[in-house]
Amino acid sequence: MIEIRHVNKSFQGQQAIHDLNLTLPAGELSVLIGSSGSGKSTTLKMLNRLIEPDSGSILLAGEDIRRQSPDSLRRRIGYAIQSVGLFPHWTVEQNIAAVPQLLKWPKSRIQDRVTELLTLLQLPPAQYRQRYPHQLSGGQQQRVGVARALAADPDVLLMDEPFGALDPITRHTLQQELIRIQALSGKTIVLVTHDIDEALLLGQHIVLMEHGRIAQQGKAQDLLLHPASDFVRHFVGQSDTGIRLLGLGKVGERVRQGQASGEPIRADRNLREALSLFVTRQVTCLPVVDEHGQASGVLHFNDLLGAAA
Ligand SMILES: Nc1ncnc2c1ncn2[C@@H]1O[C@H](COP(=O)(O)OP(=O)(O)OP(=O)(O)O)[C@@H](O)[C@H]1O
Ligand SMILES: [Mg+2]
Repeated sequence: MIEIRHVNKSFQGQQAIHDLNLTLPAGELSVLIGSSGSGKSTTLKMLNRLIEPDSGSILLAGEDIRRQSPDSLRRRIGYAIQSVGLFPHWTVEQNIAAVPQLLKWPKSRIQDRVTELLTLLQLPPAQYRQRYPHQLSGGQQQRVGVARALAADPDVLLMDEPFGALDPITRHTLQQELIRIQALSGKTIVLVTHDIDEALLLGQHIVLMEHGRIAQQGKAQDLLLHPASDFVRHFVGQSDTGIRLLGLGKVGERVRQGQASGEPIRADRNLREALSLFVTRQVTCLPVVDEHGQASGVLHFNDLLGAAA
């Protein structure tokens, strides 16, 4: 668990963070979202002491982080920064290996870990491990940044817009991968984004910031169905609320017995994707399969209603 208590931070007389109180549950993926300049990156950087608060305290697993050296803290906490920040004169392999090197892992273990992470992030190891950052596209650099943060398998992972420079397909793949990693490992992840759809998809706990304060926090449904202010309502997108609610529900939750023809949809897809299929195919019933491709029933257009409840 991460606890932020009465934290204030000013830069050159301008207050960036106002009396911030925030608890981020252990083993969950929390998302910090808000407009540009609302204090998301500053909050994240205070968690690993890249920035020190002016007042207040931050506890990690019950211990004040000021009692740990910034070095040892950064070995425990993986951090993928907004601007990527790879070491330009180090190869991809050396960049990813930075923290394992500090931890004095044996060479062969480091090599295996680099291979594993490059594969996970869809950068074929043979092709990429010896390249330098300037020989990579922006999105590839960003993936190396994520691999570096994951390298030493830290309990806590801080990610500042890690998928910002990726095309929608790679972005979708890595979002799904992050959900999988988080579910398997039970890591505590704090992710910053200003993409509301990314926040709703990934965030088990969502914190919406406004001018260095919390505008609202809670689950996706809380923000969509019970916005605490006009700012929140506007931010989560008034007109698309229904569509976004559908995005939170899974096809499998609405499946019924029956048979239908046509290309099936997987039960683990969300209802927003199902809606899109109903419209593009001009049908009112879709066959559903499980993750092994086994038929598991049908989804009726009418059953989308009620998904928001
Ligand atoms: N090192 C710094 N020196 C001066 N001002 C800073 C510094 N870092 C941040 N700020 C200011 O603090 C405020 C919050 O910045 P922060 O980087 O936390 O915003 P953000 O929510 O991450 O925004 P973005 O979405 O654009 O990345 C901004 O007004 C910014 O100009
Ligand atoms: Mg930022």
